[in-house]
Amino acid sequence: MILQVRDLVMRLRSGGRDVTILDGVSLDVTARETVAVTGPSGSGKSTLLGLIAGLDRPTAGSIVLDGVEITNLDENRLARLRRDRVGFVFQSYHLIPTLTALENVAMPLELAGRPRRLERARELLDAVGLVDRADHYPSQLSGGEQQRVAIARALALRPPLVLADEPTGNLDSATGAQIIELLLSLNREHGSTLVLVTHDEALAGRGQRVVALRDGRVVAGG
Ligand SMILES: Nc1ncnc2c1ncn2[C@@H]1O[C@H](COP(=O)(O)OP(=O)(O)OP(=O)(O)O)[C@@H](O)[C@H]1O
Ligand SMILES: [Mg+2]
Repeated sequence: MILQVRDLVMRLRSGGRDVTILDGVSLDVTARETVAVTGPSGSGKSTLLGLIAGLDRPTAGSIVLDGVEITNLDENRLARLRRDRVGFVFQSYHLIPTLTALENVAMPLELAGRPRRLERARELLDAVGLVDRADHYPSQLSGGEQQRVAIARALALRPPLVLADEPTGNLDSATGAQIIELLLSLNREHGSTLVLVTHDEALAGRGQRVVALRDGRVVAGG
């Protein structure tokens, strides 16, 4: 099991009252599985992904990522785990605008002190079909191209778990479908696990399993 989420609760204080965003979410994901998380806007999808990524801490419950309980790790260990074990793809790409496509992909390799990082970054750009755009800046790339660079970057350190939050949200449906196929095929190739948030039913159906959230609870597929 690469990921075990147990009885996860997320409560926040907002406008003077407690709001329950996740209300006892449990979820098991096995290694190499591709899971799509769906649900209406506000159902807690991004909150769940953020907690799995260790970007925030839950009110209660447990998250075991690759054998490590992450909910009570200190910031340093959490940051290291995030860097080594998790790749992220976001709706808005989050590329660094002052770096070229190649440099964006090389960034995690550089932060981790890996050798041959430009060669490796070039291989990754090749895998997403963008080696001829290596020297372009994000502003010179289309949305779909920027997302492909972001995918190459997310996979650079070969993380066992890849998390993607609405990676096609800013793309037209044909480009979105291509991006999902690319994510699926690269995860298959790397033997990594993919947890993909999308409210596009057709795209969700491309995963091996669909988990549906509603009002902070799993209503199907958990
Ligand atoms: N920091 C916060 N303070 C108060 N409420 C929050 C906070 N973050 C999220 N929420 C609320 O929690 C609920 C779930 O938010 P979340 O972003 O996880 O939903 P989502 O399923 O990802 O929605 P979408 O499909 O629109 O991206 C929403 O009602 C949101 O308003
Ligand atoms: Mg969201």
